[in-house]
Amino acid sequence: MHSPRFSPAADRNKQAILDMLRTVLPPQGLALEIASGTGQHVAWFAQHLPQWTWQPSDATAEGFADIEAHMADLNNVHKPQVLDVMQTRWLDADSRFDAIYCANMLHISPWQTTTALMQGSAAQLVPGGVLLTYGPYLEDALVTAEGNSSFDASLRAQNPAWGIRRLEDVIQVAAQSGLRLAQRHAMPANNLLLVWQRATH
Ligand SMILES: C[S@@+](CC[C@H](N)C(=O)[O-])C[C@H]1O[C@@H](n2cnc3c(N)ncnc32)[C@H](O)[C@@H]1O
Repeated sequence: MHSPRFSPAADRNKQAILDMLRTVLPPQGLALEIASGTGQHVAWFAQHLPQWTWQPSDATAEGFADIEAHMADLNNVHKPQVLDVMQTRWLDADSRFDAIYCANMLHISPWQTTTALMQGSAAQLVPGGVLLTYGPYLEDALVTAEGNSSFDASLRAQNPAWGIRRLEDVIQVAAQSGLRLAQRHAMPANNLLLVWQRATH
């Protein structure tokens, strides 16, 4: 039996995110997770939101054995699929999702992935559907928390194309794709859960 990779951070924040998903999501639907990583988030959400069906994904298939191991007893999770947001074609181009969830990807990838996430999500959400992004952001009106400033510096030292995104910049590229920031929720450890909504028509 494969012993799956375990992310302590994903374990710490999964309950706070689930609590917020319960208030944000409709009672049932089909959700796509982008950048599933170890699969701990999607496993927790699928277990506790059984009326939702989940499609995990990541840019490569490298971690899929981990995702599948976390999913072992769940029947409302599809097999993980390769989905690199930078590709113009996402999964089956005809698939439509009621919700798309993406945690901790935008700062650990080049800025272009933010644009690609917004464009691809707008194309594959049902009208009125929501994209949820979770992670740290820089906000012009707020003093950046010490933890986020040093995290941003360490990301940029690892890869100059990485870094915590300015929320105002993300709002702009989202709007260009037809997604508006509908909700902003402050989360533990200086993270935000953001709800981006596609227009209903
Ligand atoms: C820090 S991990 C976050 C994993 C998980 N979402 C979590 O919060 O624990 C970053 C993830 O982003 C994924 N990623 C990076 N670039 C991507 C891209 N272009 N398309 C899809 N996923 C990408 C990585 O493969 C990795 O799984």
